[in-house]
Amino acid sequence: MLKLRSMLPVLLAATAAVSLPGSLNAQGYPDKPITLIVPFAAGGPSDTVGRLMADYLGRALGQQLVVENVGGAGGTLGAERASKAAADGYTLLTHHSGLPAGAALYANLRYDSKTAFEPLGLVNTGPMVLLSKKTLETKDARELFAWLKAQGDKATVGFAGVGSNSYICATLLQQQLGVKLAMVPYRGTGPAMIDLVAGQIDVLCDQATTAVPQIQGGTVKAYAVTSAERLDSIKDVPSSKEAGLPEFSVTIWNGLYAPKGVSKEVVDKVNAAIGKMVSDPAILERFAATGTRPFPEDMRSPAAHAKFLTGEFARFEAMFKAVGVTPQEAK
Ligand code: MLT
Repeated sequence: MLKLRSMLPVLLAATAAVSLPGSLNAQGYPDKPITLIVPFAAGGPSDTVGRLMADYLGRALGQQLVVENVGGAGGTLGAERASKAAADGYTLLTHHSGLPAGAALYANLRYDSKTAFEPLGLVNTGPMVLLSKKTLETKDARELFAWLKAQGDKATVGFAGVGSNSYICATLLQQQLGVKLAMVPYRGTGPAMIDLVAGQIDVLCDQATTAVPQIQGGTVKAYAVTSAERLDSIKDVPSSKEAGLPEFSVTIWNGLYAPKGVSKEVVDKVNAAIGKMVSDPAILERFAATGTRPFPEDMRSPAAHAKFLTGEFARFEAMFKAVGVTPQEAK
C-alpha cells in the first residue's frame, strides 16, 4: 500500500521540477477545468500515468485536469462514460491496450470502440511483469510455472476485468502453460496489488509502471518481464525468453482520447501538450525509472495514433481468436 501511494508523488515531483514553455491556451480552449476519466481504480498504472498526464497537461494547457476514476468491467465502464460525454474537449479519456482488446472481448458494449473516440495522441509504451506474493516458495520462473501447473485452479491470479492488460497477460500465461487458474477480478490492479502484497492472491501480472516500485521495495516477487529484453530498473528480473516462455510477450501502451466530434482546436492543443510532455527530460527520466518509454516522434500525431489503433483492433481480434477466447456479453 505504502509503495502504491509512494510512486505518485515521485512521478509528480518530476513534473514540478519542469519549467514549462509558454502555456498553450493563449486564447480559446480550454477556459475551464477538464475532467480526465481514468477507467480503472486509483493506485494502479492507468491512474499513475493518468495523474502524471493530468498534472503536466494541466500546466501546459493552463487549466486543471481533474482525474475521475471510473473503474470496472476491464475499463469499459469508464470508456462508456467518456463516449457519452459532450464532445467539447472538457471530458477526456486516458485508455490503454484494453480499448482495442475490449472490442474483441465483449459482444455488446454500449459504445462502438472503433468510432466513439477521437485519438489525441499516444503517450507511453512498455512491458508487464509477472509477480507473486512474497511468501510463495518458488525461487524462479521455472519453479513458478511448475507450481501453477500443479495447482491449476487452486492458484489465484488477480486481474482488472476482462479486457484489461492484466487480463491479456494472465490469459496468455495460462494459454502458454496449458493451465486454468482461478481468476480474481478487481476494478483495477491498484487494489489487486494491495491484495498481492497482503498475500490474499498468489499471482498478478501488472504493468511495469506500478510493478517496478513494488519489486524494488521487496514487497512482491518478480519472475519475468513480458518482453524480449530485461528492464534497466529491475535488472535481475529475466526476460520472458530467459524465463523459458519466449511467446509470453505483452507490450502495453497508453493514449489520450476525446469523444468523437471534438474540434480540431482541441485535438491540436492537447496533442501539442502531449508532445511537450513526452519530450521533457524530467518525464523521460521518470518513465525510464518505472520501465516505460514514450512513443517515437513519428508516432505522436493524432493521425498516427488513429492508424496504430486500427492495427491494434485487428491484432487483438486475431490474438484472442488464436487462443480460443470468444466475446462475452458486457455487464
Ligand atoms: C489499472 O490501472 O488498473 C490497469 O491499467 C489495469 C490493467 O489494465 O490491468
